[in-house]
Amino acid sequence: MEIATTVAAVRERVRQWHHERLRIAFVPTMGNLHAGHVSLIEAAARHGDRFVASIFVNPMQFGPNEDFAHYPRTPREDERMLAAAGCSLMFLPDVAEIYPRGLEGSVRIDVPELSRILCGEFRPGHFEGVATVVAKLFNIVEPDMAVFGEKDYQQLTVIRRVVADLCMPVEIIAAPTVRESDGLAMSSRNQYLTAAERRIAPRIFQELGRAAARLASGDSDFADIEDAAARALEGAGFRPEYFSVRTRDLSLPRPDTRELVVLAAARLGRARLIDNAQVTR
Ligand code: PAJ
Repeated sequence: MEIATTVAAVRERVRQWHHERLRIAFVPTMGNLHAGHVSLIEAAARHGDRFVASIFVNPMQFGPNEDFAHYPRTPREDERMLAAAGCSLMFLPDVAEIYPRGLEGSVRIDVPELSRILCGEFRPGHFEGVATVVAKLFNIVEPDMAVFGEKDYQQLTVIRRVVADLCMPVEIIAAPTVRESDGLAMSSRNQYLTAAERRIAPRIFQELGRAAARLASGDSDFADIEDAAARALEGAGFRPEYFSVRTRDLSLPRPDTRELVVLAAARLGRARLIDNAQVTR
């Protein structure tokens, strides 16, 4: 596996591969890799001839009171995991390489409709930061396809919209959520949980399952499904931000909508946990 820290080095390597007509799959990450990331990497390896992973904790997507400074950074272990997974090129830029004019001077991508709802309501500017960095990374890596996790369902939806609206020639591949044995979705932020909180954390997954079962059985009382789950989470010690039944493109569903997704975000101690479940009925 090669390691590149500059845009120029990535371009040179990737242009060579394109010249050889190799298909390039890309997995953007913020590092501190776990089995969820590895599943994306395996999907990338199945789809492409070469695969590139980036590790960049993107300051633009963190709010002023969020965990940018403390976000877990484990580049040595990440390097080992990527090499073991068959990664061809690891891109590890510093902040100045991605934002040479600083954050304030950078062009930003706004995603109306999608970026201010759900997580966007509680994390102003977050999806603008995600959309901007992913667009930049796509222009640097020029992948044929890129893999994103369904764990971050709203992020996946935002990226699909950016790619469609900006006519980017990148195929977006969704990979299913990888969970711990008790159902908790794997996340770097699970490390913020105390042992007691960790035992409660799978409750989000359980409430999503309960909501999904009600919807699947034909129940369309979305408000009651959402309120029951939010109350259950609150009773268990969470501070729920939202629990919401949506269409697959995140608009509000009608009683006869058949393809749904239930999304939840809740704080538990120092951690902010998100998860979702798709339902077809
Ligand atoms: P990060 O949180 O590191 O996640 C990188 C990718 O891994 C995302 O596509 C995310 O959805 C996926 N992922 C995380 N946990 C997962 C799990 N348990 N199962 C399946 N996939 C999982 O998401 C980001 O970084 C950033 O916002 C990024 C897209 C890199 C832009 O900065």
